Amino acid sequence: MVLVTGGTGYIGSHTAVELLKQGEEIVIVDNFSNSKPEVLDAIKDITGREFKFYNVDILDKQSLSKVFKENKIDSVINFAGFKAVGESVKEPIKYYYNNITGILVLLQVMREFDCKSIIFSSTATVYGEKNPIPYKEEYPVAITTNPYATTKLFIEQILKDTCIADKNFKVMLLRYFNPIGAHESGKIGEDPNGIPNNLMPYIAQVAAGKLKTLNVFGNDYETRDGTGVRDYIHVVDLAIGHIKALEHMKNSNAGVQTYNLGTGIGYSVLDIINTFEKVTATKIDYKITERRPGDIAEFYADASKAERELGWKATRGIIDMCRDTWNFAKNKYMNN
Ligand code: WQD
Repeated sequence: MVLVTGGTGYIGSHTAVELLKQGEEIVIVDNFSNSKPEVLDAIKDITGREFKFYNVDILDKQSLSKVFKENKIDSVINFAGFKAVGESVKEPIKYYYNNITGILVLLQVMREFDCKSIIFSSTATVYGEKNPIPYKEEYPVAITTNPYATTKLFIEQILKDTCIADKNFKVMLLRYFNPIGAHESGKIGEDPNGIPNNLMPYIAQVAAGKLKTLNVFGNDYETRDGTGVRDYIHVVDLAIGHIKALEHMKNSNAGVQTYNLGTGIGYSVLDIINTFEKVTATKIDYKITERRPGDIAEFYADASKAERELGWKATRGIIDMCRDTWNFAKNKYMNN
């Protein structure tokens, strides 16, 4: 049985769907700190399958132990954690406490129940600012530009040290690039609280008339049109990457393995705006503003290791990403 922590969040819910579609038995643990209970029904609707759910904070060791006591868990996929970059700069202690304590408690409980396989959601931002693009897994990780990203960097190290100390422990570090899009059913997707920090949810809310104008953070970068370039990946492709990683982990020796989950293609902010407008027949009102502190000009993945070793490759393109984002956002913001 697979434990999915943070399984009602954006990436967790899409991964839960793919696991259930594969016939895996899963348990979801979430405390809805940044998600809603309706997501559980949506996952059931999409897959037609049942699964166990616990409303538990992974920092609550006693409750988490109960989950392990009541279920035979052999692997964990850990999505639980705070992830807002801006908030992490304002409240570093909250971020370090929650994200680091969460993984430590989880590892303690896993050890207690002899569960020694974990897939961890890491981020491309651990490559820092100095590595050449495209990023390759063997590049040195570097000091990050915000506490959120630093929690990911520290947790990668915690997991590496755990594998050094316990020769039976298996860890998959998955470094995500920029996940966007939604399930094609439109039943699950990204629905951030408050004003979105990330580009795609912001665009979707402008298109839906919920927000007025998109701020494009700088057009004087050394990129082809001056705006920031990122490797956007469809969240369903990302979710399928976890299925492949899980299969691979089951057949692997102990130790840490690291994979980029990206497409290998970079799109600029203006590419995304233009494609979104075309695909959805909407108009995105935008203006060019100052650069956002901490942003870097351009990065994308070398995604060849995952293809070679996991047999995984993103198959959904930017048109699918825009269409599916809009399909979800339209339902969400225009029907209520
Ligand atoms: C993309 C591009 C912006 C908003 C961050 C985290 C990463 C992951 C995803 C996870 C950049 C530009 C954005 C806007 C804009 N976090 N932009 N106007 O910064 O690459 O990655 O989010 O949970 O770990 O670091 O993603 O979507 O914020 O920005 O012009 O209103 O869009 O400058 O070039 P980013 P993003």
